[in-house]
Amino acid sequence: MPKVAPIDQRKADHIKINLEKDVRSTLTTGLENYHFVHEALPELDLKRVDPSLSLFGKRLAAPILISSMTGGTEEAGEINQRLAEAAQEVRVAMGVGSQRAALEHPEQTTTFSITRKVAADILLFANLGAVQLNYEYGIDECRRAVDMIQADALILHLNPLQEAVQDAGDTNFEGLSKKIEGICKKLEVPVIAKEVGWGISERTAKLLADCGVSAIDVAGAGGTSWSQVEMHRAPDEFTRQLAATFVGWGIPTADSILNVKKATPHMTIFASGGLKDGLDIAKSIALGATLGGMAGQFLKAAAVSTEATVEMMQLVKKQIEVTMFAAGVGTLEGLKVGKLVEQ
Ligand SMILES: Cc1cc2nc3c(=O)[nH]c(=O)nc-3n(C[C@H](O)[C@H](O)[C@H](O)COP(=O)(O)O)c2cc1C
Repeated sequence: MPKVAPIDQRKADHIKINLEKDVRSTLTTGLENYHFVHEALPELDLKRVDPSLSLFGKRLAAPILISSMTGGTEEAGEINQRLAEAAQEVRVAMGVGSQRAALEHPEQTTTFSITRKVAADILLFANLGAVQLNYEYGIDECRRAVDMIQADALILHLNPLQEAVQDAGDTNFEGLSKKIEGICKKLEVPVIAKEVGWGISERTAKLLADCGVSAIDVAGAGGTSWSQVEMHRAPDEFTRQLAATFVGWGIPTADSILNVKKATPHMTIFASGGLKDGLDIAKSIALGATLGGMAGQFLKAAAVSTEATVEMMQLVKKQIEVTMFAAGVGTLEGLKVGKLVEQ
């Protein structure tokens, strides 16, 4: 047995652990501290409330993102297919998981490319770990990831803590911002920077803006904790205890949105990390986000069926519409002006 689990084994572990174990952060998103002002006389017809938007040249029926998750194994390919079929039906955005597995093992390509095959019209995001830019990846690998799924943009994920608490993680993050800047300059599609569940500080947001990223997905604390996932995968007690230390680490999602807005006011923000429903997405939009993403929740639905995933998406969309209605706003832009109060 090699000491480091091969990428496809890691992907299989991630799905299994996320479905079967409690991997939640002990922090909350902070969104529970915000409430919309209720309007008893909204002067709106619910049927005419419109949560649609355009982003990166694509039309979305609602500001919902299936956060980057998986690919690389047969099971992961099936999950990607179900997520993409549902995204196409409801018209929401989707990201695939890190495509490193398929770049290194081209026979796994279809577990990612199935998404575009069944979802010709959706806003679709490619995904690679930014740290790989310090481990021999460059513009060619970024282009191959984008081409593989005909993506509309590339997400580079930032996961220093996840790499640091796992056995033999890739932990050299030195000088990475210059490399991200290089990719932003050369790549033909927009580059999005994303955390994986510990959020974005003002300092990081400024650095990323200077790199030229087109959007930041805050992936804040309050939902899936990747140190907890790594704790369940740990090969020994030392690594297990190291990972367990960080169950309460990170910047809650609500604070992360505000950090990015303060540091770089015109940046397009995606909110994710612990969002549980359409009300949380609507609150995130009121705080300054353009899309709200969910990972763990959609994974659970996709593990059941495409239909279960569509049903969940329809519920989330309806929750956004009813929130807008009861807050007295007919468009997403309306949500951003003075409807939310902090308690
Ligand atoms: C099974 C699984 C695999 C994931 N793999 C990736 C990945 O490859 N790339 C990435 O950027 N984020 C990945 N994530 C992180 C999510 O995109 C998201 O940022 C994080 O889980 C927080 O969202 P949540 O609280 O809604 O789960 C993964 C999440 C899950 C549940």
